[in-house]
Amino acid sequence: MERKRVMIIVSSDSGYRGEREDFSGPVIRETMEKLGYEVVGIQILPDDLEVLKAAFCDTADNKAAELILTTGGTGFSPRDWTPEATKAVCQREVPGIPEAMRAYSMQFTGRAMLSRAAAGIRGTTLIINLPGSPKAVRECLEYVAPYLEHGLEILT
Ligand code: MTE
Repeated sequence: MERKRVMIIVSSDSGYRGEREDFSGPVIRETMEKLGYEVVGIQILPDDLEVLKAAFCDTADNKAAELILTTGGTGFSPRDWTPEATKAVCQREVPGIPEAMRAYSMQFTGRAMLSRAAAGIRGTTLIINLPGSPKAVRECLEYVAPYLEHGLEILT
C-alpha cells in the first residue's frame, strides 16, 4: 500500500505575521508520521477566506496530497473562516468526521461544541478542519486519524 500524503495548513494571522510560534502544525506532523503518512508541507496562512480556498485548491487540484489537515480558525472570532473556505471548495461534505471529533472532545471540554470544524472532499483530496490549540489537535486527531486510511483508500 502506498504511503498517503498529508498537507498541513495552519490558519493563523499572528502565526503568518511571525508574531506567534506555531506548535499545532508539529503536533499534526508527529501524529501523522507515526501513522505512516508522508507530510508534504506545513503552510502557515492568514485567516483569510480567499487565501485558504486558493491553498486548498492548489493542493487538491495538483494532487499534491490525498489529505489536507487544517488547524485553527474554526471558532467564533470574526476572522475564523476555515470551515467556510473548506465547504466552499469541496464537492462533497463529510459531516461524520467533525461530528465524531466534537462528540469525543466533549469529555475534555464542553467548549468543544464551539468548534465549527468541517470536512469534505475536493476531487481525490479529503480536507479536515481541526481546532487551533495543540491540545485540541492532539485530542481530535488521536480519535479520528486511525480511521482515515480506509476512507482515503476508497477515495484514491
Ligand atoms: N476540542 C478539543 N478536543 N479540545 C479543546 O481544548 N477547544 C475548543 C474547541 N474544540 C477544544 C476543542 C475551543 S475553546 C474552541 S474556541 C473551538 O475548538 C475553536 O477553536 P479554534 O478557533 O482554535 O479553531
